[in-house]
Amino acid sequence: MDRVLPRPLISEDELQHRISELAAEIDRDYRDQEPLLCIGILKGSVFFMVDLLKRVTVPVKIDFLQTSSYRSGTTPGEIRIRKDVDIAIRGKHVLIIEDIVDTGHTLSTVLGLFRFRGAKSVKLCALLDKHKAREVAVNVDYSGFKIDNVFVVGYGLDLDERYRELPYIGVYEPDGDEPSEPSEPSE
Ligand code: IMP
Repeated sequence: MDRVLPRPLISEDELQHRISELAAEIDRDYRDQEPLLCIGILKGSVFFMVDLLKRVTVPVKIDFLQTSSYRSGTTPGEIRIRKDVDIAIRGKHVLIIEDIVDTGHTLSTVLGLFRFRGAKSVKLCALLDKHKAREVAVNVDYSGFKIDNVFVVGYGLDLDERYRELPYIGVYEPDGDEPSEPSEPSE
């Protein structure tokens, strides 16, 4: 069966350039607050997390959390923890690393959880921000790119576990819809 390749939205070069800028911001902010506990949200954040943390120079510890969302009808999904972190959160400076913030339900739950567990600080670094799709307010401290409300795949993001391995971010357009506006780095 032929594979429809997603239309490129953010190239490999653009991703790597922006990730270097994010790493420099993180270095600057956490210079005096080490060690930093970086928690990746599985599985989509993995490619981003690796490239980002190879460029960060402050000492980090890494861990992972996996969530799932249960939707019933139009009710926003209830977020559940499928795999919890192994490292204790209390007293740590935590940086959550996420592929994309969409409605915000996942991240608002995870941020609340880490604060409840006594983190010294909790910040969020997200590669992509679908800001127009937000249903709950979430402050993205380090934001790679703001994008339109389109379904994107590649560079860790999937559609039913497909396309994660693509080195770029592409828009999945099953019915050949008109392309949306290009993305811009967020401020
Ligand atoms: P939220 O709770 O609605 O913010 O959803 C966040 C999660 O939904 C992300 O971690 C992704 O797993 C998934 N997601 C949202 N939009 C996309 C997309 O365009 N492509 C792939 N996954 C997405």
